[in-house]
Amino acid sequence: MNETDKAKKHVGEEAVLYVKNGMKVGLGSGSTVYWMIRKLGELVQQGLRIEGIPSSNQTAQWAKEFGVPLTDFSKVDKLDITIDGADEVDLNLNLIKGGGGALLREKVIANAAKELIIIADKSKFVTHLGKFPLPIEVLPFGWEVTAKQIGLLGCQPIIRKRDLETFVSDNGNYILDCSFEEINDPQKLHEQLIGIVGVVETGLFVDMANKVIVSNGSEIEVITS
Ligand code: 5RP
Repeated sequence: MNETDKAKKHVGEEAVLYVKNGMKVGLGSGSTVYWMIRKLGELVQQGLRIEGIPSSNQTAQWAKEFGVPLTDFSKVDKLDITIDGADEVDLNLNLIKGGGGALLREKVIANAAKELIIIADKSKFVTHLGKFPLPIEVLPFGWEVTAKQIGLLGCQPIIRKRDLETFVSDNGNYILDCSFEEINDPQKLHEQLIGIVGVVETGLFVDMANKVIVSNGSEIEVITS
């Protein structure tokens, strides 16, 4: 296992310390979250009583595999905690998410939670968001014209592909990866983007994270907003 993977495992396993009996837990997506769900499964085996709401089909599959009980928003109004990864974290704990294409449901579970905890290896920390191409979920209908309007804001949107086919999110939408290079005002950019008809959601999570648990593979640091 390389240093980055060690760090992902480290923060994923550390995050479960924040999960207490009886909690409703938002389960994020991605390879860091994988370690969190695996550890959560072990704790459930040992008697921890929780229910999770997954942010992707992949996460739901891992939860089932590791024995983490699931529920949904027809039975739950508020989550106690959501734990998720990120593609970039800036100095104000604003985030770029959506590298795995789950940004829309991730934002729903982040928004529904009393506390959002982000787990990240050290490489995810940046001074300014934007080096990682911003994922934007768009409606398939007319995506070409939506992409042109997004492009006017200063990027060249690239339609996400998987195995040469257009990637389709769990919600049936497309993802545009948009390199802005440096995002100086994430809130303003999010508002401009979300105002474009055809944009379903952006991967900018502004002022949402309460804590970031970060590791370089050996040491853990917890940063609180
Ligand atoms: C998926 C996400 C992930 O949280 C993000 O891509 C980080 O993934 P990983 O933990 O695999 O580095 O936003 O949509």
